[in-house]
Amino acid sequence: MGSKLRMPPLLILVMCCDSIMGGSIRSKQTWTYRIRSTRMATNNESLAGGETHLEREGRGEYTMSGYLYFNVDIPQDLEGEVNIYRSNDGGATYKLEPYSVPRTVVYHTMNTFYKDIVMSSAANCSNFPQFKDKIELIRAQTFTYNKCLLSPDGFPTYLPDGIYKFEMQSFGMIELFFEALVEVTQKTF
Ligand SMILES: *[C@@H]1O[C@H](CO)[C@@H](O)[C@H](O)[C@H]1NC(C)=O
Ligand SMILES: *[C@@H]1O[C@H](CO)[C@@H](O)[C@H](O)[C@H]1NC(C)=O
Repeated sequence: MGSKLRMPPLLILVMCCDSIMGGSIRSKQTWTYRIRSTRMATNNESLAGGETHLEREGRGEYTMSGYLYFNVDIPQDLEGEVNIYRSNDGGATYKLEPYSVPRTVVYHTMNTFYKDIVMSSAANCSNFPQFKDKIELIRAQTFTYNKCLLSPDGFPTYLPDGIYKFEMQSFGMIELFFEALVEVTQKTF
């Protein structure tokens, strides 16, 4: 499972998207998922911030929408990390999963995982960056995303049931925090 498990947090990191509802349609995965909640916070609204919320699409199915603004260009030395936790007792207690994205420079993450795995599907529901070679600078701007879903394609074929908590945060001049709770269950067919 090792290497593939590095992918999911980055998909969540950009709160990204696909047309596949709940990961249940047309995917090889043995599991399906539902987003249960999202929230975000900033330490300084004059530098960066945003809003995130779920939109109900049908029987227990939700998509993510919101916006993320930067009033300053994203600093070259801004770092970020992602931690993933899983609860198998309905969310009472969480254990850190061995896979996560260690703290690194955000631009590096943009030019690797984001570009390779997320960028094409991000095009569909957001104005998150689209670029060809490398992104050197993300200027002060507002990103919006509308009815985004996570594609299960970059995820492991097998994931145990549970509530997964994805926590992303940046460190440095801009300190943003984003959390998503996602419930994974096995497909019943
Ligand atoms: C927010 O950032 C601005 C610009 O760097 C700074 O002037 C201000 O003191 C900060 N506010 C807080 C509450 O840290
Ligand atoms: C974008 O959305 C359309 C319509 O929902 C869908 O047909 C298409 O596959 C999507 N493309 C990507 C890259 O997700």
